[in-house]
Amino acid sequence: MKHIKVFAPGTVANLGCGFDVMGLTLDGVGDLMEVGVEPGAEGLSIRNESGVSLPDDVKENVVTPAVRAMLEAYGRPVRVEIRLLEKIVPGSGIGSSAASSAAAVYGINELLGRPFSGKRLVEFAMQGEALLGGTAHADNVGPALLGGVVLIRGYEPFDIVRLPVPDNFFYAVVHPDIVVSTKMAREVLPREIPLSKAVTQWGNVGGLVAGFALRDVALIGRSMQDVVVEPYRKGFIPDYDELKAAALDEGALALNIAGSGPSVFALTADYAEACRVADRMKAHFAARNIGCRTYAGRVSNAGARVVG
Ligand code: HSE
Repeated sequence: MKHIKVFAPGTVANLGCGFDVMGLTLDGVGDLMEVGVEPGAEGLSIRNESGVSLPDDVKENVVTPAVRAMLEAYGRPVRVEIRLLEKIVPGSGIGSSAASSAAAVYGINELLGRPFSGKRLVEFAMQGEALLGGTAHADNVGPALLGGVVLIRGYEPFDIVRLPVPDNFFYAVVHPDIVVSTKMAREVLPREIPLSKAVTQWGNVGGLVAGFALRDVALIGRSMQDVVVEPYRKGFIPDYDELKAAALDEGALALNIAGSGPSVFALTADYAEACRVADRMKAHFAARNIGCRTYAGRVSNAGARVVG
């Protein structure tokens, strides 16, 4: 059996207005796994050695539907062994499940001699997301595989566009110790929205895409507004409006909920500022007796990759 080690980064989905269609890649946080394949044999085993608690049953692991979709498309028997070595904390909202699915399909593709394109890998990996939230969305697995900022222009047919990341572009993420499942965060959303809100939202999505294409960080910042999803989800995060005001006061370009939460992310044009914003967000939760983890770093252009 051939083995490689693969890293896939954490990601922030939605980017405010781009619910289910936009995401970006975080530097410095991600999943590390060893992937092995044996063509001609059958079976999938996943060993979790990351120290993070995950379901023992392989069928409940997000990696399973992603790998099965890939092997079905491959059409020949392959035995796959996965050893999960380092893992983003599940339920954090920074693409924990996506990083696992992305690393698995990326590693298998490398070991099989790259039969599939990056776009196809995204389509396989997003099957893992359906296991958690009931819908196969690619706004985390897209950036986890391809790196940079990703726009899913359409799901049927699947059309994904990778956008450049401005050079000096940084994130601060806070992951408070509260539980918000993706399923729960999707169930609170309305099925329909008024046209006036749709107009505001698509103006912002257009502004966000233009901001990345033009490398205009101020345009990115003022476009990262969400009138559709944030109003329904912010109630999960204690005193969210105050948190946002504090981060913007500290100099953040924008703040929003990372994916389905409970993590919150802010963007800045300076690393020291990202660290200050992370500290300010930590103080927000500490003042409410809520523990948290914080991360600060560069928005990355690099997606899943072989590291050993
Ligand atoms: N776009 C997804 C959501 C990301 O906001 O529900 C979480 O998987």
